[in-house]
Amino acid sequence: MSFCRERSGAKLRVLEGEKVRLRPVEDDDIPKLVEWENDADIVRWAGKQFDTVEDAREWHLKPTLQHRTFAIELLDGRLIGEIEVLNITWKTGTAEIRVFIGEKDLWNRGLGEDAVSTLVKAYFASTSLKEIFLRVDEENRRARRCYQKVGFRTEGRVTCRWEDGSRRTILLMKLRKTDGSRKHAGKQYGGG
Ligand SMILES: CC(C)(COP(=O)(O)OP(=O)(O)OC[C@H]1O[C@@H](n2cnc3c(N)ncnc32)[C@H](O)[C@@H]1OP(=O)(O)O)[C@@H](O)C(=O)NCCC(=O)NCCS
Repeated sequence: MSFCRERSGAKLRVLEGEKVRLRPVEDDDIPKLVEWENDADIVRWAGKQFDTVEDAREWHLKPTLQHRTFAIELLDGRLIGEIEVLNITWKTGTAEIRVFIGEKDLWNRGLGEDAVSTLVKAYFASTSLKEIFLRVDEENRRARRCYQKVGFRTEGRVTCRWEDGSRRTILLMKLRKTDGSRKHAGKQYGGG
């Protein structure tokens, strides 16, 4: 059990970035997170995850070996969004991330980049994860640029028909522990 805890980085609780802090979700955060998760602009790009508030509560408040949600807050403590690590496969050292900044007036200020960068650095440094991937709509240029700044690269694409009949292309982007961030060229996330 202790091995599992070590491997999964259970020590990862509060992660300090340069602009944001990532911390465990608390019960008081749930109404705001659910409000954002139902916002049309967030749903358009990040998808809709839960049918009920109880489902959201269960997912966000109960991390498992396969998933964990962090609340994103400004350094003054204001909740602004969430970032999740999910589909964690310890056997292969891979996981997916999903993120949104719910406060739209705070988009384009480098907060998404800081949240993603803080998360991947911590997981690469403290767990056995070697690769982190994400899925993003090809048209979501803001998110693509955000991930690109952290060092993610596009590795694949799939075009599918959505519920509303539209066709969308989803990119698979990936970052390896041995990659460097674009901003800090040459600086690796952890080696090994
Ligand atoms: C995606 C998201 C998490 C990014 O967070 P953010 O704080 O806005 O991102 P950042 O400020 O770090 O980076 C955004 C970059 O995109 C750029 N950008 C914004 N609109 C753009 C556009 N139409 N085309 C190209 N670049 C664009 C910004 O200028 C910035 O780049 P810069 O720092 O080089 O100037 C946030 O915008 C969000 O939650 N969006 C809605 C939900 C979503 O899309 N989630 C991701 C699902 S995969």
